[in-house]
Amino acid sequence: LIDSLFGILAGVHWLSLGVVLFLAVPALAIVWNVVKQLPFLRDANRPPVVFHILPFIGSTVSYGMDPYKFFFAMREKYGDVFTFVLLGRRVTVALGTKGNNMIMGGKLSQVNAEEAYTNLTTPVFGEDVVFDVPNHVLMEQKRFVKFGLTTENFRAYVGMIEEEVEMFLNTDSSFSAYNASDNDVWGSFDAYHSMAQLTILTASRTLQGKEVRSQMKKSFAQMYEDLDGGFTPLNMIAPNIPLPNNLRRNKARKAMTDFYLNILRQRREKPSEETDYDMLAALKDQRYKDGRPVSDKEIAHMMIALLMAGQHTSSATVSWCLLHIAHRQDIQQALYEEQVEHFSNGDGSLRSPTYEELKGLPILDSIIRETLRLHPPLHSLMRKVVSDMPVPYSLGNASEDRTLVIPKGNYVLAAPCISQVDPGIWRKPLEWDPSRWTEAGSLAAQLYRDYTETGEKVDYGFGMISKGTDSPYQPFGSGRHRCIGEQFAYVQLETILAMLVRKLELKIDHVPPHNYTTMIISPQKPRNIEFRRRQVSL
Ligand code: HEM
Repeated sequence: LIDSLFGILAGVHWLSLGVVLFLAVPALAIVWNVVKQLPFLRDANRPPVVFHILPFIGSTVSYGMDPYKFFFAMREKYGDVFTFVLLGRRVTVALGTKGNNMIMGGKLSQVNAEEAYTNLTTPVFGEDVVFDVPNHVLMEQKRFVKFGLTTENFRAYVGMIEEEVEMFLNTDSSFSAYNASDNDVWGSFDAYHSMAQLTILTASRTLQGKEVRSQMKKSFAQMYEDLDGGFTPLNMIAPNIPLPNNLRRNKARKAMTDFYLNILRQRREKPSEETDYDMLAALKDQRYKDGRPVSDKEIAHMMIALLMAGQHTSSATVSWCLLHIAHRQDIQQALYEEQVEHFSNGDGSLRSPTYEELKGLPILDSIIRETLRLHPPLHSLMRKVVSDMPVPYSLGNASEDRTLVIPKGNYVLAAPCISQVDPGIWRKPLEWDPSRWTEAGSLAAQLYRDYTETGEKVDYGFGMISKGTDSPYQPFGSGRHRCIGEQFAYVQLETILAMLVRKLELKIDHVPPHNYTTMIISPQKPRNIEFRRRQVSL
């Protein structure tokens, strides 16, 4: 009996010790985490750290819920440079044009994009491309892609996109009111959902090629959806947890690679009689500088990367454009009248535009620029710090007269979305006002020219581009990682918007706020736009 009593007591004793440890270890970790942040223990040569209670979680929730609010509030408190903890990563933010320049124009010996993004992108795109290769290889791969982004191809794309828009309106169930015999029927569509469909249809018809387009309503759509499910914030730090979405991602990625490999094989065996204007045609004959041909697997993975990189960015942008013009009837009317002025056949109908004609339309262009200023799809551009990075005093908090050092191992984050709404630069920065881009001699117009044409030019290995790193406006990023799809995105956005405004009248009571829970800035639900078939032709 005594033995068993001792046994029970010992059991209770170990159990309570276990409970105490279970509670004490995290409690101690929290206390230590807070103590470390006390001003007198803080390393004065490091950027200030955003105060947080929980280690690992840090400021993840407030940043994730509303990065704009978080950045503005922290700038107020700590200045333009500060560090916060994001899922265990120490991320140093540098705001303003100097911050943009420091990170986007950072030297390869100091900052590196592959280590910041590879966890997220490599399981989705596949190996040997983009952030799974050293930077100089990525620069060569961007050069290959540029071969497919020619004026000749863009000219062909306008007509293809026009046809896709027409077909979409005629067949998609959300647009049944467009096809009603009575012209005056109003319907409604979910702006983001419908534009995601139209974006992938137009991208597959143009860049991706006819084989992808023909499978769009079949196997390809499911593969795309499963792959897309691999883009989650958790995968930035732990991409290989065997969660159902990751297992589906892996399976879809393999199937997608095989799908493209098969197309390449078939095209070789039976070359097409017609010219192919797509990216597969451009990539298949490329060679690296050392003479090595690009492998079929690399081509397949580059095609996946282009598909994924262009999809949410373009579809979010076109849906924001539509939401704004649905809200601002005056600008919608001006946009429609611009179409009539340039493309009227004189009998109430409008002819097809050419690529060159679309490019030169000031209202259409300014709507896209202004939308990208207020709603850039990517709010945070990250790099990993690979060697200690000094930050000049002038960049940090003006009250601190010293050089700060961002230590190796931190991540750095540029947020051009903040300089794009900086009240010190933009008049009424939070107002959607496309006219700021067209006013003669306006600052916005000058900034845009610098970002795209007149600023410093650099060749990082994929042709001469505008550097743009110190621009307050950089929705397509800048420097060596500047977006390669910028011109394609413009062709796609311009054609879709021009076609939709010709065919539909749109209205909405208010433009929805940002949703940051998707990996890009998307419109929050409800985001239904009411529409009817356009009634009048001028
Ligand atoms: C990179 C924005 C459309 C392909 C980027 C970056 C931004 C961006 C900000 C730089 C990321 C960084 O520096 O960390 C946009 C926007 C788009 C768009 C706003 C549409 C409105 C596209 C399209 C494609 C594409 C259509 C493909 C056809 C890429 C690729 C990169 C990239 C491959 C990586 C480049 C590198 O790291 O060197 N994009 N993008 N993007 N974009 Fe886009």
